[in-house]
Amino acid sequence: MFVDKLIINGGKKLHGVVSVPVAKNALLPIIASSLMLNGETSINNCPMLSDIYASADIIRDIGSTAVFEDRKLSIFYADSDVYEISEELCVKMRSAILYLAPLLYRKQKINMYMPGGCKIGSRPIDIHIDGLRKMGAIIEINGNKISAQLPDGFKGCRYKLRLPSVGATQTLIMAASIADGITILKNCAREPEIVDLARFLNSAGAKIMGAGKNEIIIQGVSSLEGVDYTPIADRIFASTILSAVNACKGYVLIKNYPMEYMYLFENMLKKTGLKIVHFNNSAIVFKCNERKANIETHTGYYPSFSTDMGPLLSSAMVNNKGSLRLYESVFENRFSYFSQFKKLGLYCKVNNREYFQKLAKSSHNEVLYAEDLRAGAALVVAALAKNGKFDIYGINYIDRGYENIENVFVKLGADIRRISGEE
Ligand code: EPZ
Repeated sequence: MFVDKLIINGGKKLHGVVSVPVAKNALLPIIASSLMLNGETSINNCPMLSDIYASADIIRDIGSTAVFEDRKLSIFYADSDVYEISEELCVKMRSAILYLAPLLYRKQKINMYMPGGCKIGSRPIDIHIDGLRKMGAIIEINGNKISAQLPDGFKGCRYKLRLPSVGATQTLIMAASIADGITILKNCAREPEIVDLARFLNSAGAKIMGAGKNEIIIQGVSSLEGVDYTPIADRIFASTILSAVNACKGYVLIKNYPMEYMYLFENMLKKTGLKIVHFNNSAIVFKCNERKANIETHTGYYPSFSTDMGPLLSSAMVNNKGSLRLYESVFENRFSYFSQFKKLGLYCKVNNREYFQKLAKSSHNEVLYAEDLRAGAALVVAALAKNGKFDIYGINYIDRGYENIENVFVKLGADIRRISGEE
């Protein structure tokens, strides 16, 4: 079997320019909801990520068109007699569940399977299902299989989400956009990616009000029309760069910087000596000296500190003489990197949802294993910041959310390369 690995000679300062790509987590629901739009929808500046390829595969598999050309993804829904998304495609990513509402609307019946995705917790789909049932869908779940029908179209309703799930809010916004009547959703997720989905659907003719707040009101419309759209910049990618400069030191210009979503993360890193200057759409980030800091924080639903940024905060602190105490509120298993960080000379302790990290001894050459996307990115940043030679396996997880992560850091002067080898 051929397995990719990254080889990193760490300990180099970072210098250069990087541009933040479009956000994967904004793109994925936008791509899924494009199936509800008539005619062609074009999505600009698509990063070439494995989750984006998997999305295009689902669209093609159900008989529609998804074409990439110069980073523009063009999607065209076509009727077909395919009423199932294969298990093989569903298990590739969590966002497979976002196809349930659009395909129910288009086909009135669809079978699919429990979605896969990073193993950061149990990740049930009960809120997606419960909300869609409330809107008129008949859904049965047998083991891994989801069989759904929509005999009479989506119906507007009042629905309070059990918790502010990002994915379930997206599912219900999609269904409500083309439902008969008004839908009032309460306890919605408020993440920027929700706001972007609403902006996309509104540009296609939907009437969604209040996205970004707890309560979203949607007047259903009879049809949506294809548009040309560019999603928001990736705040998690931006935090990856901030973490890397914080841990490695150096001087980096970040273009297309999503400043409005970054202040919590920035404020924590500033305590350790990171300097940030914002201008126009960019940020200059630099660090000369490490300042000892003890940081204590918890992740949560937006606008709280993002669960996806937790592992990156840990990596930002790998050379700090202070400590990090991080409480994870959203997922049960976000600290898969902790055993790998120990290999990098850190003292790490996990107690249920609480993580503690402190610098203990110097690093040596090590082989590291990524177990999920953000944990993988955190390992890359940590290895770049430590003295030694590090091999990182599990790159397939990192490729879900970063297009050739090694190229990003090579441009900043890091010694990192990818090789394919036989195991
Ligand atoms: C999205 O996942 C993101 N993924 C995740 O990013 C991110 O960590 C997460 O939101 C939280 O911000 C994408 O956008 C593709 P949730 P999602 O539904 O929608 C529970 C990354 O690394 N829940 O908000 O799956 C769930 O178990 C990924 O880019 C239910 O109980 O997250 C979790 O505890 C990882 N029932 C909490 O809600 C449901 O029906 C939040 O999950 C749905 C969710």
